[in-house]
Amino acid sequence: MSIPAFGLGTFRLKDQVVIDVVRNALALGYRAIDTAQIYGNEAEIGQAIADSGVPRSELFITTKIWVDHFAADKLIPSLRDSLAKLRTDHVDLTLIHWPSPKGAVAVSEFMTALAEAKALGLTRQIGVSNFTIDLMRQAIEVVGADQVATNQIELHPYLQNRRVVEFAQAQGIPITSYMTLAYGKVIDDPVIARIAERHQATTAQVVLAWAMQLGHAVIPSSTRRENLASNLKAVDLRLSPADMAELAALERGERLTSPASIAPVWD
Ligand SMILES: NC(=O)c1ccc[n+]([C@@H]2O[C@H](COP(=O)([O-])OP(=O)(O)OC[C@H]3O[C@@H](n4cnc5c(N)ncnc54)[C@H](OP(=O)(O)O)[C@@H]3O)[C@@H](O)[C@H]2O)c1
Repeated sequence: MSIPAFGLGTFRLKDQVVIDVVRNALALGYRAIDTAQIYGNEAEIGQAIADSGVPRSELFITTKIWVDHFAADKLIPSLRDSLAKLRTDHVDLTLIHWPSPKGAVAVSEFMTALAEAKALGLTRQIGVSNFTIDLMRQAIEVVGADQVATNQIELHPYLQNRRVVEFAQAQGIPITSYMTLAYGKVIDDPVIARIAERHQATTAQVVLAWAMQLGHAVIPSSTRRENLASNLKAVDLRLSPADMAELAALERGERLTSPASIAPVWD
């Protein structure tokens, strides 16, 4: 995979909270950070990175272009603004955050602009987020499957998104699982708790290990240093085929993120 298997999510984290979270995460060994223009925290993340003293070359920074910035004349200027806030001359990965609402901007227009941003060196890799199979096909037509570094989608034990995963994997496009912990909902699941007990692990570690073992990247978030530390240890946990089968059986089509104004018709 050309993107890190484990990173830090920063949705909803603002001001001093996000500064503290990024500082703690970097001190604990996190090196990949996921943000977005709409999160309103790029400047604070830039500050926390600068204060940390961790060399830029060790970091993998992802941002996402908001839907208002998809037009050919807006995308690159908006990414330059993000770079200024993040205090860097390039990000490692830039994603189209959501499909363009009502198709207002054509996939060909924003994917071409995104590829141009890469050609200019403003981003090392490009990708998409919340893309359906049909939208992925359209993006691939414009830039080629090998140029799409990931499709970042909601994926957790209660929404396993198998059709999108199968299509992406057939194209060689890695999936990034967002809300892998279902925003905390999976923590008290009794089936997962039993698996966790067998491994002397936490339920969060089991779920993160499950997603990584399926080949997906994960970007869990936490405001608590102890959770940041224990979540990172999921990289060392190996689940058995029986554990994986039990987790697969938890699918229940429970989508948590589908904002009416921007959500596509899901697969
Ligand atoms: N592309 C998109 O459209 C999109 C959409 C949503 C999210 N994302 C990205 O994905 C990232 C992850 O999603 P998310 O932050 O929404 O949800 P998440 O990572 O599934 O869950 C975060 C929640 O789980 C809790 N938690 C974390 N570790 C825990 C542990 N070890 N034990 C118990 N509770 C724990 C956190 O509470 P505490 O703070 O108390 O630990 C927080 O409430 C986001 O931050 C963002 O970067 C992308």
